[in-house]
Amino acid sequence: MSGAPEIHRLTTPQDLFQAAADEVIRAVKQAVRERNRFTIALAGGSTPKGLYTLLAANADVFPWDRMFLFWGDERHVPPNDPQSNFRMAQEALLSRVPVPAQNVFRIPAENPDANAAAAAYEQSLRKFFDVHEGEFPSFDFILLGLGPDGHTASLFPETAALEEKTCWVVANWVEKLRTHRITLTLPVLNAARIAAFLVSGTDKAAILHQVLEGKDKDEDEDEDGNKDKDKDADEKYPARLVRPKSGKVIWFVDRAAASELAPAA
Ligand code: 6PG
Repeated sequence: MSGAPEIHRLTTPQDLFQAAADEVIRAVKQAVRERNRFTIALAGGSTPKGLYTLLAANADVFPWDRMFLFWGDERHVPPNDPQSNFRMAQEALLSRVPVPAQNVFRIPAENPDANAAAAAYEQSLRKFFDVHEGEFPSFDFILLGLGPDGHTASLFPETAALEEKTCWVVANWVEKLRTHRITLTLPVLNAARIAAFLVSGTDKAAILHQVLEGKDKDEDEDEDGNKDKDKDADEKYPARLVRPKSGKVIWFVDRAAASELAPAA
């Protein structure tokens, strides 16, 4: 990674969304200046909705014909399902801005075969990014959330997707949810120019402290009570594994989420 994560401590959730929106605007201008396009992988869940609403409210700032929207992950549901990350973004952003339909790359999660959906999405990414074999696409911006268990995108603790080193997109079985999730893999997240976490609310305070300030190694007892001293805490907190090789990680956190962090220097 090109350096330590940037941690932007904001007061309210709206301050967080504004700070993140300002960063998106800055990144859009740089990407369009340098590459005549801006590629972003949107996050799901609920937190990003405030950012998407703000981006839509400032739609005239963006060169939508040069903006290309993707998703970092998707639930294994159709696009009109209340659980769909696409549906959330469609309602909060896509339906309110003049982004050309051909610039929106939805994960085809309606496919009953999650592996086929992941493979199809990967093919659409390979066609768009046109990188050499063995390389990974560099999104200009990847938006991420943080789950209470330390997951990000659909990279959940101790799931198979964490070990994926070659595929760009996989269908990740999440036992505790009893479902597949379709997700970008760590090599893709770590090829990003900017990976930006949005973390809001007191329910994220404990996990944010663990991810940013927790011990590097955890002792972990297996079912026989044997301590697995080599267990790397990062596998327990997948968000820690987001370390872009040459890009940067930015954490946008509000006061409630930051309430268990050490005081800012
Ligand atoms: C998803 C997201 C997931 C999310 C976190 C935080 O599909 O749900 O990709 O990684 O970002 O679970 O979700 P909240 O923002 O709703 O707390």
